[in-house]
Amino acid sequence: MVRFRQDEAYETAIGFFLSSACWFVVAAFAGLFLASSMVAPDFGLYKNVSWLVFSRLRPVHTNTMIFGFVGSGLLGAMYYFVPHLVRTPLHSRAAGRLTNWLWNIAIAAGDITLMAGMSQSREYAEWIWPVDILVLLAFALAFYNIVKTVSRRKETLLYVSVWYAFAAMIFTWFIYFLGNAVWHPRTGAITGMADGVLAWFYGHGIVGLFLTPLAVGLSYYVIPVISRAPLFSHALSLVGFWSILMFYPHIGTHHLLQTPAPTWLKIVAVTGSVGMLIPVTTVLVNLWLTMKGRIARIHADIGGKFVFAGLVWYLFVCFQGVFQSLPSVQRVTHMTNWVVAHSHIAVFGFSGFIALGGAYFVIPRIRQHPLYSTKLADIQYWLLLIGLTGFFLVLTFAGLIQGTGWLYGETVYKLLPELHLYFVARLAFGVMIFAGSLVGLYNIVRSLYGGEKP
Ligand code: HEM
Ligand code: HEM
Repeated sequence: MVRFRQDEAYETAIGFFLSSACWFVVAAFAGLFLASSMVAPDFGLYKNVSWLVFSRLRPVHTNTMIFGFVGSGLLGAMYYFVPHLVRTPLHSRAAGRLTNWLWNIAIAAGDITLMAGMSQSREYAEWIWPVDILVLLAFALAFYNIVKTVSRRKETLLYVSVWYAFAAMIFTWFIYFLGNAVWHPRTGAITGMADGVLAWFYGHGIVGLFLTPLAVGLSYYVIPVISRAPLFSHALSLVGFWSILMFYPHIGTHHLLQTPAPTWLKIVAVTGSVGMLIPVTTVLVNLWLTMKGRIARIHADIGGKFVFAGLVWYLFVCFQGVFQSLPSVQRVTHMTNWVVAHSHIAVFGFSGFIALGGAYFVIPRIRQHPLYSTKLADIQYWLLLIGLTGFFLVLTFAGLIQGTGWLYGETVYKLLPELHLYFVARLAFGVMIFAGSLVGLYNIVRSLYGGEKP
């Protein structure tokens, strides 16, 4: 049993959960704005206000979702499960608070400067140099705090979730540093084809080696606790851990199969992508066998329910990912809304759902009373699940129309009107997701500061 005052000990976790809920609303609103601009692009607001044009708001949406909503949620959970698993309080609460502030200032500054037109124009690396420095500082501080906590641990066994937390901190720091070409402050880039390769080493790394390990580590924590069963196999969890680190860093070039990137690199990327089936299946089989026969328990806990849904999306995302990394498939799907559909079930369905599950699992344990409203959390779950499933299906169909149209040489002016209906449907499903983000913010704030619903 860990003996220290829960509220104070976990204030960093609380700060990150709150940040996550707020950024979710901001980023979903930006997403809605983008989606509506694709429905009625001639509307003046979308063209005449420079701060709101698509090219500026899109990276606001993506970066705020990745770092602000999902990243903050997963970091919040990490600040809870690491001290808990090593049975030692967080090394420095002050450093934790500072990390949370640096993180939020970086996201806010990144978004404002993007809207003002300052961008490094590389996907998920758009934030300018000073913001990059803040992000790197935040990661370094988080790593320091976690290492110091673990080094003073009372528990000798290092459970696999702790390994994942370490991997996420170390890899993300280097990927962020290299991918943003921090030594070139003016451009944040190098030159030529090498820059494309570097940009996608970063782009896929940030989802695969920041969000994925934290989401998987959190699942490894939540599922056994709720199932009230030990992890099926510690050895299997280590196979999954080392194999993801082995495959993920070099598969970014699967984003560049239709470019003049070196052929050997494309081959490495495609084979590595297929190899990703190893870590993914080991993680999922291990968790599945842990909760086998106990699914009812998982679904009785709203946190578990979110995490479970996230894992089902993970299965789907990764099998789809392997499929679409094959050159013959990409001939149709690349540069279409098919990929945008994949991004949403990946970043949102997999890691976003698990981040929300983490918040709903952890908050009642920190505050030592039930959530303000489990009913509201359940409503949010269904809004998000239906919204995302619809979003995914609509964009996948739209992507197939685009892909086959382009393959058969159809002109854009004929194809675009066919997509209109799909964009309207995407907007409608987006409204559900936005509504879900608002419900979540309300419930999380009330759970943290208002007590249980009377
Ligand atoms: C086995 C695992 C996975 C494989 C093999 C895979 C494969 C791919 C491929 C080939 C693309 C590029 C498609 C194209 O441009 O034509 C892609 C895009 C993407 N993937 Fe995955 N994926 C996997 C898992 C994930 C996960 C777990 C996440 C997030 C947590 C993710 C997030 C994304 C995003 C955001 C993009 C869009 C990038 C962009 O073009 O802006 N993927 N994936
Ligand atoms: C209110 C709901 C949402 C709406 C309406 C929405 C809308 C959009 C739009 C219009 C784009 C640009 C697509 C393009 O360039 O063609 C986009 C991209 C993206 N969104 Fe969302 N989004 C929503 C929720 C989310 C959530 C919850 C996440 C993650 C947690 C997310 C992550 C992303 C990512 C990673 C991309 C880049 C996709 C790519 O380049 O492949 N979005 N979104």
